[in-house]
Amino acid sequence: MINATTNERLLDVKDLTIEIDTRRGPAVVVDGIDLYVNKGETLGVVGESGCGKSLTMLSLMRLLPNKIKVTKGSATFDGRDLRKMSNRDLRKVRGGDVGFVFQDPMTSLNPVMRIGDQICEPLIYHRKMSKADARARAVELLRLVGIPGPEERLMAYPHELSGGMRQRVMIAIGLACNPKLLIADEPTTALDVTIQAQIVDLVKDLRAKLGMSVVWITHDLALIAGLVDRVAVLYAGTVVEDAPVDELYARPSHPYTRGLLSSIPKLSDAPASRLSSIGGTPPEPGRRPKGCPFAPRCPLAEAICHERVPRLEPVSGNSAHRAACFVVQRMQEAA
Ligand SMILES: Nc1ncnc2c1ncn2[C@@H]1O[C@H](COP(=O)(O)OP(=O)(O)OP(=O)(O)O)[C@@H](O)[C@H]1O
Ligand SMILES: [Mg+2]
Repeated sequence: MINATTNERLLDVKDLTIEIDTRRGPAVVVDGIDLYVNKGETLGVVGESGCGKSLTMLSLMRLLPNKIKVTKGSATFDGRDLRKMSNRDLRKVRGGDVGFVFQDPMTSLNPVMRIGDQICEPLIYHRKMSKADARARAVELLRLVGIPGPEERLMAYPHELSGGMRQRVMIAIGLACNPKLLIADEPTTALDVTIQAQIVDLVKDLRAKLGMSVVWITHDLALIAGLVDRVAVLYAGTVVEDAPVDELYARPSHPYTRGLLSSIPKLSDAPASRLSSIGGTPPEPGRRPKGCPFAPRCPLAEAICHERVPRLEPVSGNSAHRAACFVVQRMQEAA
């Protein structure tokens, strides 16, 4: 079944800026992120390690670690301003209308609490279910995410499960309250490829059944190709390009996206051909270059790129496909 997407915004994040307190003073780690998710849509968020994927999503749910804070920007969910919400109201959204699958199941699951109790907790808190109903729903959820023998598994502790099973439990917790939005942060890292593919299929299936929107965070562009409707590419705490997934693969515009895509091996590649990679490393927090953060690594950078920060602008007049790059913008004006 094809998921029905709409143009109605479910999540809308504008100019989100996050700073870390360091010994050398505040350092910007997320610098004016713009992204949105429409109702029923699946957005892939991709980018190298450390580019701010997790902090961006954690900040929306007010789950940032100590010494890290949002300093600017707006975020609305289902028409409500997340930044202005009281802690009490936000707790109702978190785990209720927004399900979160954290990046690391071993540290996010409570090691001394049985799996069943961890799944029942949001159901009792958010959906006011009785213990017996929550338990029945927990069994149903474990079955849904493909865990065999769910009744017995409810009694297990996290360390008694394999990595793949723990990740499925995290997904079950994220889905517990039938969220409008599921935020899955690298839900398949550290799993072998067959299990990764199973989890992708599982989320696709559930999305179609439940009609939810999904944000799927990953650094693996190839994995999400068949799953997402749109992709936002992050680099050093900013969105450098976003587009419908087919458009992004067919016409990547930003030099960073082009570099990312050309480092994915293709079946048509000669067996011994070398994979291309992007030279250099992303800037460290607090050491952002002036101008475009990608300019020091960019093969196309011009003088302006080292001076000014480019904004997301439509590519070829298509407002669904945007790129933040002076060179792309100049070449279009010239065409
Ligand atoms: N608790 C923390 N204390 C200090 N710095 C942090 C902390 N958490 C994240 N950072 C820094 O903030 C930046 C963004 O981190 P974030 O975890 O959002 O990256 P990410 O894109 O999710 O990376 P990954 O793909 O590795 O999960 C990184 O430079 C990271 O070093
Ligand atoms: Mg992360």
